[in-house]
Amino acid sequence: MNLPSYFKPEIKGFLKTLIKEQPTPFLVLDLSVIEKHYLELKQGFPTADIFYAVKANPADEIIDSLTQLGASFDLASVNELNKVIKYNVETSRLAFGNTIKKRADIQYFYDQGVRLFVTDSEADLLNIAQYAPNSKVYFRLSIDGAETADWPLSKKFGCDAQSVIELAIKAQELGLTPYGISFHVGSQQRNIGSWDNALQETKAIFDKLANQHQIFLKMLNLGGGLPAQYVQKTAEFTIYSEQINAALALFKDYVLEQIILEPGRSLVGNAGILVSEIVLISERPHSGNKRWLYTDVGVFNGLIETLGESIEYPILCEKTGHSDPVVLAGPTCDSMDIMYQNKKYDLPLSLEIGDHLYWLSTGAYTTSYSSIEFNGFSPLKYYTLD
Ligand SMILES: Cc1ncc(COP(=O)(O)O)c(C=O)c1O
Repeated sequence: MNLPSYFKPEIKGFLKTLIKEQPTPFLVLDLSVIEKHYLELKQGFPTADIFYAVKANPADEIIDSLTQLGASFDLASVNELNKVIKYNVETSRLAFGNTIKKRADIQYFYDQGVRLFVTDSEADLLNIAQYAPNSKVYFRLSIDGAETADWPLSKKFGCDAQSVIELAIKAQELGLTPYGISFHVGSQQRNIGSWDNALQETKAIFDKLANQHQIFLKMLNLGGGLPAQYVQKTAEFTIYSEQINAALALFKDYVLEQIILEPGRSLVGNAGILVSEIVLISERPHSGNKRWLYTDVGVFNGLIETLGESIEYPILCEKTGHSDPVVLAGPTCDSMDIMYQNKKYDLPLSLEIGDHLYWLSTGAYTTSYSSIEFNGFSPLKYYTLD
């Protein structure tokens, strides 16, 4: 079995030992891969602050390692904040990046020293003004481009350009600092032009606020969206960074205090290998001619991003020989628990019950999405290789 060469050579031995000693399924995270991606991001975007989107994988070991590397953190909840402040991260490196927040949670973030908040609605802005007075606020702009992202994020967040302008004016009236604009082009975004479009829209808002309202925004938040390596190939990271940096030239007449990136998937995705065991193999002539492989990992204990067959994880196994198409399904009594039925996955005919499948690029959005007890199955465990 050939693992990608970006893993530490020790990973094979580590996997072997774990398979001997621990029940599957489990996720193995090679922390050196995360470090490599962090340094690559810093090199590709030298002037940007990297705010890791903790939701992608809140493992303590990842937070610890990124803290030491100098990362900042994009936080969605009080629990994420509590995880990060354990590592004594300066509060200037933290942002409450969820547009949907309870008043008590705004207050809690404020009490802990956080002064950077996102918003996309007047109701939320009023709460921030009341519970986090004098803080900096940035406005989440809703943008198009969802169709070229494998996991779109456009349905629930963001507001249009006119609303951003109204919110910025209101923020100033409320004693807050209208600081900048954020957008998210959609997770696993394959069209790099999405950032160009979003930045053009953002620039028009910067111009209007400066020229018509004397409000000078100072921050750009380019969100997440950079890819991990799944079955469907994307452009190299350097192509992304070059093209996005070129688009940033639009802002050459502005004095930007801060450019923020909020990577989740691209930082931690490739670092993960999820090991599962084949529980059952069956022929189901009434459901097409494919073999059905049921594994002990499924949609509800780690692979939720296979819903709609959206994210296509590369799968390896130790058997070789002739392969033919399979349906891959999880262990629960829920018929949504099918990972791939229409997408083409071919696996060796020699596979047997008890063999292992290795799901690559599973470092992001697996453990954090895993249910705690659905059908009695345990949440997905993980082990780290330093
Ligand atoms: C506000 C915010 N920032 C960043 C991210 C991370 O995005 P990605 O995993 O595509 O890098 C997300 C993902 O949901 C998000 O909601």
